[in-house]
Amino acid sequence: MADHVYDATFTDRVVDAMGPKTNPRLRQLMAGFIRHMHDFARENELTVDEWMAAVQMINWAGQMSDSKRNEGQLLCDVIGLESLVDEITYKVAAESDRPTATAILGPFFRADTMARQNGDSIVTGVDDGEMAFMHGQVLDYKTKKPIPGTVVEVWQASTNGLYEQQDPDQVEHNLRGRFTTDDNGRYWFYCLRPTPYPVPGDGPAGKLLELMDRHPYRPAHIHIFATHDGYKPLVTQIFDRKDPYLTDDSVFAVKESLIVDFVPREGDPKASLELNYDVKLMADEPTGQFLAKDAIT
Ligand code: BEZ
Ligand code: FE
Repeated sequence: MADHVYDATFTDRVVDAMGPKTNPRLRQLMAGFIRHMHDFARENELTVDEWMAAVQMINWAGQMSDSKRNEGQLLCDVIGLESLVDEITYKVAAESDRPTATAILGPFFRADTMARQNGDSIVTGVDDGEMAFMHGQVLDYKTKKPIPGTVVEVWQASTNGLYEQQDPDQVEHNLRGRFTTDDNGRYWFYCLRPTPYPVPGDGPAGKLLELMDRHPYRPAHIHIFATHDGYKPLVTQIFDRKDPYLTDDSVFAVKESLIVDFVPREGDPKASLELNYDVKLMADEPTGQFLAKDAIT
């Protein structure tokens, strides 16, 4: 009805229903969320059917999620929310004398990734990929000193576009490994030149992409998670400069400084390509930053 007037006090009443024991940051977040959602519903004249379709999508995401699959996160990814939150959380300019830029974790990280020795290969049972020797140094970005003992976790999808936990034909922990830097802060291992792959299309995130007439592809990348006491944990991804989806990532995670070049490698029967990639960490100075988990646990 064009002349309908909404109750001007309604949203305030919902926000003000929060009691005095509400954590201040949670109050701020929930008040903002409620106000934006109410404005969104009014501005778009959201119908009950449309709202229920969204509720069912969220429920579907929950039903599909387990310890190996995080469909709620994937839903956030396809609307750019994880990438935006990553940018907000780590407002670090992507310049050469800066720490390595961050990028989203994505849903395929495994907290129990197996430890491997420097020089190992993370690849088993893949015969249609290009092997690459990846190596580099982990450095303190300010002092430029190497950081021995840094744990460097890496993971990548196989040439069929699947991570090992999505694919019963891959051995457990295939294409992932936890390495530790040596006395010079160095790590080295064999991996695949990554290939582009589609985000899973069998759940609500895939459905949403289809409804929005978007492709599901991610540009070829390798995930890195580097940790050392006294430094900010670094979650990032590096992207192959030659990939056709670099400017059109379905989850909006590419940053210019994270684009890398694989170069030919001579005289190594195990790999025809090489990637030298240094990781620059930032000392963990207390920032007083609020941690959401403290508010909700
Ligand atoms: C990934 O990089 O593994 C990923 C990130 C977001 C959504 C799906 C996959
Ligand atoms: Fe990935």
